[in-house]
Amino acid sequence: MADPAPPILEVRNLSKIFPVQGAFGRVKARLRAVDDVSFALAPGEVLGLVGESGCGKSTLGKTIMGIHEPSAGEVRFEGEIIAGGGFRRDNAMRAKVQYAYQDPGASLDPRWKIRDSLHEPLIVHGNMPRAERDAQVREIVRLVGLPETHLDLYPHEISGGQQRRVGLARILTLRPKVVVLDEPTSGLDVSVQATVLTLFRDLQRQFNLTYILVSHDLAVVRTMCDRVAVMYLGKLVEIGPTAAIFDAPQHPYTRSLLAATPRIGGARIAAAFALTGEPPDPANLPSGCRFRTRCPKVQPRCAAEEPALAPGAGTRAACFFPGA
Ligand SMILES: Nc1ncnc2c1ncn2[C@@H]1O[C@H](COP(=O)(O)OP(=O)(O)O)[C@@H](O)[C@H]1O
Ligand SMILES: [Mg+2]
Repeated sequence: MADPAPPILEVRNLSKIFPVQGAFGRVKARLRAVDDVSFALAPGEVLGLVGESGCGKSTLGKTIMGIHEPSAGEVRFEGEIIAGGGFRRDNAMRAKVQYAYQDPGASLDPRWKIRDSLHEPLIVHGNMPRAERDAQVREIVRLVGLPETHLDLYPHEISGGQQRRVGLARILTLRPKVVVLDEPTSGLDVSVQATVLTLFRDLQRQFNLTYILVSHDLAVVRTMCDRVAVMYLGKLVEIGPTAAIFDAPQHPYTRSLLAATPRIGGARIAAAFALTGEPPDPANLPSGCRFRTRCPKVQPRCAAEEPALAPGAGTRAACFFPGA
């Protein structure tokens, strides 16, 4: 068998810690929003990123793109460091990896016409003459399926689905190679979701994109992704090919997530792995495995030691008692 292509993006031991302010501005605690996460993406791959609200998906995406400075670890694009490890900002390299905001309406300046929002990244990242920028913006607008007349509208004058398209257009003007799509279909009607997902696929082919697709909608992840990564309280707890994750999840937390979506997980998993309670305070994690307080399979060892992600290819889980 031929060697697999070298990764286009490598995330190595990446952490992002936020200080939690107490009284008088003192740091009361440290919140490990992303905790020692490692994975690699093959060119053209679509990796799904799933997990409950607050588990660190957006922080991971933003730290990969460089919106947040990593607390530890590094990110490499085609082998070169683009975040962490003493990297100094290099806009050309940085532009290769882009992050599409969860709420594009909020990320667009309400006082700016769509045209201005689309010109801005090109102005920040280069010194293209105005006419050339204009041509590029018009082309991108066409590619994301918006009429050119929308360039003269303000964000509040277009629909949620169209705002999504503008958010994507903004990013694509920079010709990225890797795009983090953060909850790209949340808040959209089902019919609009379908057309937006089709657009992502078309653009992926056209621009040779590699995606990290953050979503809490497991049906979307199942249809769109080659692999799935599961996060719990800042940690990657399982990663593997999409079919294997859905058909034979190894981590009890992955099983719980699937159980919460009966039309996907099936009634059999649902009964044994129903997820109860809220996740623990991320600024005050339990000892050992951080899922143990909610795990139906918990054993004494789980409180004493923290399981690492198993090495190897195929499905990998961070659990001492994986499988059925
Ligand atoms: N800028 C920030 N400052 C402090 N804490 C943050 C910040 N951004 C996110 N957090 C915290 O980090 C954790 C992960 O948040 P987030 O990445 O938004 O999760 P998700 O996208 O999975 O819902 C949460 O506990 C959240 O409150
Ligand atoms: Mg988020």
